Amino acid sequence: MADSRSPRRILITGGAGFIGSNFVYHWHKSYPGDRIVVLDALTYAGNRGTLAPLDASENFRFVEGDICDRSLIDELLKTEQIDTVAHFAAESHVDRSILGPGAFIQTNMVGTFTLLEAFRQHWINADKPDTYRFLHVSTDEVYGTLSDTDPAFSETTPYAPNSPYSASKAGSDHLVRAYFHTYGMPTLMTNCSNNYGPYHFPEKLVPLMCINMLLGKELPVYGDGQNIRDWLYVTDHCEAIATVIQKGAPGESYNVGGNNEVRNLDLVKILCGLMDELAPTHGVTLPTNPCESLITFVKDRPGHDQRYAIDANKIKTELGWEPSVTVEEGLRQTVEWYLTHQDWWQPLLSPAYREYYETAYS
Ligand code: NAD
Ligand code: TYD
Repeated sequence: MADSRSPRRILITGGAGFIGSNFVYHWHKSYPGDRIVVLDALTYAGNRGTLAPLDASENFRFVEGDICDRSLIDELLKTEQIDTVAHFAAESHVDRSILGPGAFIQTNMVGTFTLLEAFRQHWINADKPDTYRFLHVSTDEVYGTLSDTDPAFSETTPYAPNSPYSASKAGSDHLVRAYFHTYGMPTLMTNCSNNYGPYHFPEKLVPLMCINMLLGKELPVYGDGQNIRDWLYVTDHCEAIATVIQKGAPGESYNVGGNNEVRNLDLVKILCGLMDELAPTHGVTLPTNPCESLITFVKDRPGHDQRYAIDANKIKTELGWEPSVTVEEGLRQTVEWYLTHQDWWQPLLSPAYREYYETAYS
């Protein structure tokens, strides 16, 4: 990327999570002159080790802390002279939100509110407030569910969240919108479909399937496996967020998607085929072969949304962003990544994770 721009000083919340860490690497590579400060509470989903290779960079700082901690945020915004926030930090797993919604309200709503308030004060006192940006990373799940024949979600689709997770994200989106309309604060928002790729915590569909195949464990498909999700490779999402920060119009939201609608069962079968093919090329002997024989239909998720689909025309026509990785390439790279990064995911299968797994799947 050509760099004729003024350097930014960016606070990335949730930068030790899946998309946040991919974004930290993406931004660092695209804009090596920018200051990056990561704020992450290192919940079960945060992984300090993912960002360890950046510790040697003088433009990078990691801070362990909570987005609900107002005095910490005030201090960071001031001492680091932050002009840009990329807000990823969230409780992000629908199944956990069904088991215990409280943490979702606290982090996703109260945490986002705390950040917005702190940034508003900071922006009011700024020398160059016009250059400031607050980018809120959200999800397509706020729009609710589609039938197989409904048109895809656009930015004007009414919100209709169905899970405690999506309801808490919808609440935070409304706050972000209100801070632009009420205070004129330069907020931006992205609503993206399902991501997949490296550094994805094992509880989500794609890593869970890859890891269970490597362990010879059942592949739990909810209900009849006919639910549809739109899949986007994580680096394409990172590029979309970077584009919106650089070129988006304050107050606007942008839908981001991969144009890749796949039924869950079909996706799991694709992953199985890739694992059968790629494991031997990496010298890995699979405990069970073919992997498809591990597919097991389990009790459906309560309130399971049938279909998500994204109309990403706005970001394409207004900002020139389009996905660059096909789902075939992306899934192949992802399966290969889980095959070759067992050192990354093995330690995540902790007693706490096993307990969650037992509770969720028993
Ligand atoms: P993740 O669960 O992998 O990571 C979340 C990160 O936030 C973790 O590092 C965690 O430690 C941190 N965190 C949680 N609570 C915190 C708190 N109170 N204070 C500070 N840090 C805290 O999530 P992800 O999949 O990377 O998602 C990132 C963002 O993108 C979320 O806002 C999510 O709603 C959104 N999103 C995700 C997807 C997807 O497919 N994963 C799709 C669209 C949008
Ligand atoms: P998930 O990765 O949890 O993302 P989201 O619910 O935010 O879309 O799940 C993706 C889809 O896969 C969703 O329809 C639920 C389904 N699913 C399973 O069938 N089995 C599983 O073990 C998991 C985690 C998800």
